[in-house]
Amino acid sequence: MLKQLNKLYFFDYPVGVNIGKNKLTSEADALNDYEILFRTFKDYGDYIVINISSPNTPGLRDLQNEQFINDIFALAKEITSQPVLLKIAPDMAAEDAIALCKTAVNAGAAGIIATNTTIDYSLTEHAKDFGGISGALLTEKSYELFKAIGKELYGKTLLISVGGIDSAEEAYKRIKAGASLVQVYSMLIYKGPALIKEINEGLVKLLQADGYTHISEAIGADWK
Ligand SMILES: Cc1cc2nc3c(=O)[nH]c(=O)nc-3n(C[C@H](O)[C@H](O)[C@H](O)COP(=O)(O)O)c2cc1C
Repeated sequence: MLKQLNKLYFFDYPVGVNIGKNKLTSEADALNDYEILFRTFKDYGDYIVINISSPNTPGLRDLQNEQFINDIFALAKEITSQPVLLKIAPDMAAEDAIALCKTAVNAGAAGIIATNTTIDYSLTEHAKDFGGISGALLTEKSYELFKAIGKELYGKTLLISVGGIDSAEEAYKRIKAGASLVQVYSMLIYKGPALIKEINEGLVKLLQADGYTHISEAIGADWK
């Protein structure tokens, strides 16, 4: 990852570094993994994301608790002055997710990224019972949780929405619910990089249709 990042520095894009503990590291030793990663990447990228929400690493989601959040942000503060964001899973009750996000913000998080993939295998009869579901099947679940978080935290921290975003319309919904940025992952596989152009051009039209002259006016519009 470090090698790839060094190559990227030729470009002038903002880069986020997403870190998670190793699969074989126990929960008790998890903080140590993050410490190594903070130290390794503290001078790289523009922000760091703490991933404790991937279902691919057994036990990782158990770290989504108040104690760990407080510990990890305290640790981050000691090591790096980069903005550090928290990325959460979509499978928590909204009130639990909001409480966790508030803890993170109070502990020094620069923002929240919602959401990772879901382990709600009832979303499709074709799901296996491991790993996470992303893309179109996740859209509604991810939006609903993001919206609940946006309602509570818009204006209090930076919010990034991800999960099943496949169009300008979906990106616009997230922006109005409080997203300053949106991320696209799975749909890039199906639509390719042209999707970004499609979303950006579509957003311009949606903003104009609502009478906005700048995207900042639309961010959090649901709560203004
Ligand atoms: C193959 C794959 C690998 C992923 N790896 C990571 C990861 O390492 N860290 C992380 O925070 N999220 C990871 N994600 C989650 C995505 O970043 C994203 O949050 C999720 O897929 C929902 O967005 P989407 O519906 O646009 O794919 C991964 C997703 C997929 C499908």
